[in-house]
Amino acid sequence: MKVLVVGNGGREHALVWKIRQSPLVKDVYCAPGNAGIASLADCVPIETSNIVELADFAQTIGADLTVVGPELPMVLGIADEFHRRELPIFCPSRSAAEIEGSKAFAREFMHRHNIPSPRYEIASSPEEAQAFVKKKPFGFPFVMKADGLASGKGTLVVKDAAEAKAVVEEVMTDKKFGVAGAKVVMEEFLDGEEVSFLVFSDGARVVPMVSVQDHKRALDGDQGPNTGGMGTVSPSTILNVDVHKQIMQEIVLPTVGGLAAEGRRYQGVLYAGLMITDAGPRVLEFNARFGDPETQVIMARMRSDLVPILQGVAEGHLKESKIDWVKEPAACVVLAAKGYPDAPETGQEIHGLDTLKNEPDVFVYHAATGLRDGKLVTVGGRVLGVTALGSNLDAAVQRAYQAIGKIKFDGMSYRKDIGQRALAKLHAPR
Ligand code: AMP
Ligand code: GLY
Repeated sequence: MKVLVVGNGGREHALVWKIRQSPLVKDVYCAPGNAGIASLADCVPIETSNIVELADFAQTIGADLTVVGPELPMVLGIADEFHRRELPIFCPSRSAAEIEGSKAFAREFMHRHNIPSPRYEIASSPEEAQAFVKKKPFGFPFVMKADGLASGKGTLVVKDAAEAKAVVEEVMTDKKFGVAGAKVVMEEFLDGEEVSFLVFSDGARVVPMVSVQDHKRALDGDQGPNTGGMGTVSPSTILNVDVHKQIMQEIVLPTVGGLAAEGRRYQGVLYAGLMITDAGPRVLEFNARFGDPETQVIMARMRSDLVPILQGVAEGHLKESKIDWVKEPAACVVLAAKGYPDAPETGQEIHGLDTLKNEPDVFVYHAATGLRDGKLVTVGGRVLGVTALGSNLDAAVQRAYQAIGKIKFDGMSYRKDIGQRALAKLHAPR
């Protein structure tokens, strides 16, 4: 088989790494890829937003499967373009992907299908939003979300009326996130522990992956701005069998069923970002793709061949009813550039990766890396995802940090507390 992967982050490196191991696969291509991916796949310089050129390329090489990582090509309708040309693709259609592409659509969909989620209101103008702030039906803090894609930065927790007013002006009047802020969703603030719950769906059949806990804030102790994710552990230590069942029955299955009933058959990864509250799991958001850095720990733990699963989803006939996983937990710590997430510094040389090549159960997934004059350098905010398996979660976390000790680049920063909340939960007296 020939497989094309679209994307250039740590998620795509983990996917390429796993796809490469499949005995079904002969050639792997990646557009545009990064310096790490280049050692496993043929990288082609096509941007992820260029869906026509991506389809042309898949057609030219005769790709048996194209796998899409990021949300941009997805919401631009890459799946529809491929379907039109009868090219196999692992990616939800544009209408199915709206569950991620529009926060307002997603909240109204959840409401229509009784999927447990916070109370919300939608404002379509700055005046409506300011009226909401005055009325404050959910009290403070509450959460404001720009309706469209804003690279993970469009969600803001506002603590009082003055801040809320200023945020409305920034997002709706001054259009800080462009058209994404034409509408905003205001929602009740939920307290609890977050879990990333990802499943494969062929439109009817659903197979869950192992659970993951992400660390979204930039700084230790869950401080600082929201980011794409600074590290992950798997499994989550807060999901027991009952909560797992509840998530499948009350959230995942009604979502896949509801989308099918509304003519938006869902084929791809459905990623539910959940808050586990005292009253049970609630949906914070849905993503229509693999998470980053969730995928790094998921792929590290997946024993089954990924490729037949991706094919089954793409064809709409998922045969696998269960996926095999290694029982060892995994941890991933993201090494970021100075200035991430606002204005990351680039062009710094990265040292030390050679010393980790043969380290057992340690995988360094590249994200924003590139080659300049034959040297490995940083090219963006999230640079590397250092991932490790361990006999238990403590060991996995420790091994990831030990590996980090061998890596160096100027301005390298990372959270020192990845997995600490999960471990505290695990070791808490019952
Ligand atoms: P989102 O853009 O919807 O993924 O939200 C980003 C992050 O904001 C989530 O991972 C949560 O940490 C936080 N968040 C979003 N919605 C809420 C909510 N209703 N209550 C509390 N925190 C939230
Ligand atoms: N790690 C969060 C995301 O992929 O959206």
